[in-house]
Amino acid sequence: MQTRVERADFEDWRTAAGEAVKVLQAGGIVAVPTETVYGLAADAFNAEAVAKVFEAKERPSFDPLIVHLADGGQLERVAVVPEDIEPVVRKLTANFWPGPLTLVLPKREAVPDIVTSGLPTVAVRVSKHEVMRAIAKGLGRPIAAPSANRFGRISPTSAAAVQQEMDGRIPLIIDGGACSEGLESTIVAIEPGEKRPTIRILRPGPVTREELRRFGRVVKSGRVTAKPEAPGTLEAHYAPATPLLLFDQPEDFVPEEGKRYALLSYRGEARDGYLHRHDWARVGVLSPGKGKLAEAAIRFFFALRDLDACGVDAIVAEPVSEVGLGSAIMDRLRRAAAGRS
Ligand code: TXA
Ligand code: MG
Repeated sequence: MQTRVERADFEDWRTAAGEAVKVLQAGGIVAVPTETVYGLAADAFNAEAVAKVFEAKERPSFDPLIVHLADGGQLERVAVVPEDIEPVVRKLTANFWPGPLTLVLPKREAVPDIVTSGLPTVAVRVSKHEVMRAIAKGLGRPIAAPSANRFGRISPTSAAAVQQEMDGRIPLIIDGGACSEGLESTIVAIEPGEKRPTIRILRPGPVTREELRRFGRVVKSGRVTAKPEAPGTLEAHYAPATPLLLFDQPEDFVPEEGKRYALLSYRGEARDGYLHRHDWARVGVLSPGKGKLAEAAIRFFFALRDLDACGVDAIVAEPVSEVGLGSAIMDRLRRAAAGRS
């Protein structure tokens, strides 16, 4: 299969969005830009189309997909909002949609089981990327779209990265530029509480724990096992092909004789303890100088993909502090490290 890339240019992205809608209407799949990472889209109500997503990604069927809506008004088409959590769901969607927050809610029957891997719940979000929203609006139906990488690999944050992952596997990639968030959406489940509802973070992401605290008691689902609550939060996720090493202390890194190492550095600063520890074959810096977590998040998968391709034996990653977006970055680093150990 030949993979065509259609550019969603600044002035004329509607043509590209229209091309994507045509493919989706015909039961096909297409890679689409979102503000977090690129998604691999199918009509969520078309089980056969969704099956193609699993096939192209080589994704195991027990790992459910996220359903994207054109706007919050479509929520009831795919999910049931239980009365006891309705107020908090309303507040969360009002505050964070469109945007990188995914809610796990009881699913409607209209959503095929293949989308949710047979779970009674469905993960839903509204992307704020205008091309993605135009596609969802144009199709007029919910869109199932996991990240557009092959299973267990690095999420794509540019059309070029999608091409590396999916060339020859899908008919069309919509190039909407680089993703503005760079990390996958925050996924939460909500439970009613006597005083305040509980917001359980199943996957940390751009909407931070700190931001969510205004809306309920925030707990982190720390479980990272082979059969986790959010099946896709498998331990070995986001893994580069090159082993990724993560240490508690810079001193813990002891290079092996004859091996070449790359460094994934947060600020590119010697005082963080890693830069001068070794004669690195290559250094990727996430946020040069001061170190801004938002910038680091945007560049994270891009930098990881670059280091993965540079032919070293291993990548050493500097940890970042676990506040705000730092939690989401550390979550990805831990999974990447676990993937190869
Ligand atoms: O930012 C994002 O969320 C991107 C863009 C494309 O929207 N999508 C994304 O999809 O990251 P994916 O498939 O790579 O990750 C979705 C994860 C699954 O791996 C799974 O863990 C979780 O969402 N998920 C989906 N449905 C769920 C459900 N019913 N209950 C719990 N977790 C669910
Ligand atoms: Mg993914």
